[in-house]
Amino acid sequence: MALDRNVAPNDLNAFWMPFTANRQFKKAPRMLVAARDMHYTTADGRRVLDGTAGLWCCNAGHCRPRITAAIQAQAAELDYAPAFQMGHPKVFELANRLLDIAPEGMAHVFFCNSGSEAVDTALKIALAYHRARGEGSRTRLIGRERGYHGVGFGGISVGGIVNNRRMFGTLLAGVDHLPHTHLPARNAYTRGQPEHGAELADELERIVALHGAETIAAVIVEPVAGSTGVILPPKGYLERLRAITAKHGILLIFDEVITGFGRLGAPFASQYFGVLPDMITCAKGLTNGVIPMGGVLTTAAIHDAFMQGPEHLIELFHGYTYSGSPIASAAGIATLETYREEGLFKRAAEIAPYWEAALHSLKGLPHVIDIRNLGLIGAVELDPVAGEPTKRAFAAFLSAYDRGILIRTTGDIIAMSPPLIIEKAQIDQLVGTLADVLRGLA
Ligand SMILES: Cc1ncc(COP(=O)(O)O)c(C=O)c1O
Repeated sequence: MALDRNVAPNDLNAFWMPFTANRQFKKAPRMLVAARDMHYTTADGRRVLDGTAGLWCCNAGHCRPRITAAIQAQAAELDYAPAFQMGHPKVFELANRLLDIAPEGMAHVFFCNSGSEAVDTALKIALAYHRARGEGSRTRLIGRERGYHGVGFGGISVGGIVNNRRMFGTLLAGVDHLPHTHLPARNAYTRGQPEHGAELADELERIVALHGAETIAAVIVEPVAGSTGVILPPKGYLERLRAITAKHGILLIFDEVITGFGRLGAPFASQYFGVLPDMITCAKGLTNGVIPMGGVLTTAAIHDAFMQGPEHLIELFHGYTYSGSPIASAAGIATLETYREEGLFKRAAEIAPYWEAALHSLKGLPHVIDIRNLGLIGAVELDPVAGEPTKRAFAAFLSAYDRGILIRTTGDIIAMSPPLIIEKAQIDQLVGTLADVLRGLA
């Protein structure tokens, strides 16, 4: 049968775009055709300063030669190796290099292909871990309101963003949620970690009292919540969460998909805050966003609980065709090497105070009701248009793009997370242009 369906190659209709206002986009497309370092190039030849590291993932900037070369060489040498019952050297090397920069106490890595898969993997490991130890009654999972843990059924069940949940049925059973820690009345315009709200971690005691500790497998939180519009942990909050989970034998999972790989000026947020969870999920910056890859770091105690019984048997019935694929592994190694060679995590820490000062200079501009920051993360919250939430921030996003900067919005919050190679002059450009955008908003 002829395949002539009269579809022009540049017809925009066929591709159903993710997390996008499809009809709006297709009327006025924003097409990126090239990238280098801090900039994208648009189809109409404009340079756009990347204020978001793509989607919080290109931490070393774009089209970095070492990463490109590693991918090219790997594709020509070993394109694919079966992920189950077979191995290849690069994935073992990457796991070791990852542990080199991971918090002390992390001892093993399970690879997958995205943040969503990392979250579902960690939740499954948590359930199976308790069962392997004879505590199979621990089946409940605790997330947090406004949390974002990707879009798998596990992730949206423990997640707390209503639009990501309400269309998708009953989700996982046996999930409960902590309250979020966004307290604008008490913490607005805080620089760095907020002073107020550590006591919100004590809500976990209430949840434990309600269900019984022996029914709870794990608590998962983002150390800094990004996709929901940047929510920071109040001082002492993560420490309390760690103490309560430890007291009740509940695993603590940090979802570090955006905080991993230098976003706060340390390899992981766990090191920045000095709080060690039982598992860490990561993705995005693991390969500089270039090739899909995610991972779950676990302690030895978790891993070792599975390593029993006859040695010819598979210990964990979980994995993906592309878990630790050769090309992703090569990209990961080259990425970690780039971070190390250029000292990018330290660089992020050094430039963070300048970033903070620049962001907070936006206070007092039209519609701004809060500004918050940590490491190289920043958020500017806008007063919503009455009855039309998200409209004002989306208008800011479009205006910013027209003026040559890429920002991200969620709800009425503008979030920024530039590559860690950003220069002071580029921070000035980003924040200065955003100031012009805000002055021009209706
Ligand atoms: C904290 C967190 N977890 C999970 C995810 C999902 O990652 P992916 O889109 O790679 O599935 C994200 C994505 O932004 C994230 O921020």
